Amino acid sequence: MGKIISIVSGKGGTGKTTTTANLAVALGKLGKSVVAVDGDLTMANLSLVMGLDDASVTIHDVLIGTAEIKDAIYAIPDFENVHVIPAAIDWEHVMKADPRGLPSVIKPLKEQFDYVLIDCPAGLQVDAMSAMLSGEEVLLVTNPEISCMTDTMKVGIVLKRAGLAMLGFVLNRYGRSSNDIPPDAAEEVMEVPLLAVIPEDPAVREATLEGIPVVAYKPTSDGAKAFMALAQEIERISGFKARVMY
Ligand SMILES: Nc1ncnc2c1ncn2[C@@H]1O[C@H](COP(=O)(O)OP(=O)(O)OP(=O)(O)O)[C@@H](O)[C@H]1O
Ligand SMILES: [Mg+2]
Repeated sequence: MGKIISIVSGKGGTGKTTTTANLAVALGKLGKSVVAVDGDLTMANLSLVMGLDDASVTIHDVLIGTAEIKDAIYAIPDFENVHVIPAAIDWEHVMKADPRGLPSVIKPLKEQFDYVLIDCPAGLQVDAMSAMLSGEEVLLVTNPEISCMTDTMKVGIVLKRAGLAMLGFVLNRYGRSSNDIPPDAAEEVMEVPLLAVIPEDPAVREATLEGIPVVAYKPTSDGAKAFMALAQEIERISGFKARVMY
């Protein structure tokens, strides 16, 4: 049985989609079968970041009831073992799809894949909650700023109370400012384990523009190495251990 990980944050723009895409490709490189799900039903962009641009069936169609989930799963030939379930971007689909149906669509995917990664919207609104509660484990993404960290913590507390297992957090875009909170202090504030420090790296942004996650676009970059290390750490702790520890 596979693992379902919700990738979440309090504020927008912390790097959830970037983390989802890179973790998917990195776990695929480690030989795991992965599906990355775009759970951001109103501002979908995961498929663009992963280079899938011709998807006709989306998770919206599945939620609306006009397609089956198997028709919304796309293999990405350039990345071994990696699949994506895209979301629609047109307003008509967005209006019709009820996000509350996400858990029943996403949860069964763990029977088919080693990892189901959910790219969630930021915050605690109903669409974000529905996407986040479709997972069983939580990966928090934050930037090294206090308001970003406290908002992400709030989300983590809510999800823990809802019964999800806390894997820990990713400190993303570290080194962008001289005022950044250092990793040790960040871990103290967050009160959950720090799983990876991802540096601010122009290669990450370039990769986003190319539609190729940085672990494939520039594997020797510091950003790519950090995402690979994150994948190894997830491989180590995801599943039973995370449940016992927290
Ligand atoms: N480590 C990094 N170094 C440089 N740029 C980064 C890094 N991480 C993310 N970015 C850039 O920051 C922007 C926002 O990232 P991303 O879309 O992953 O955030 P998000 O949390 O998914 O946002 P939203 O809440 O809007 O869905 C993107 O342009 C991405 O390329
Ligand atoms: Mg996003």
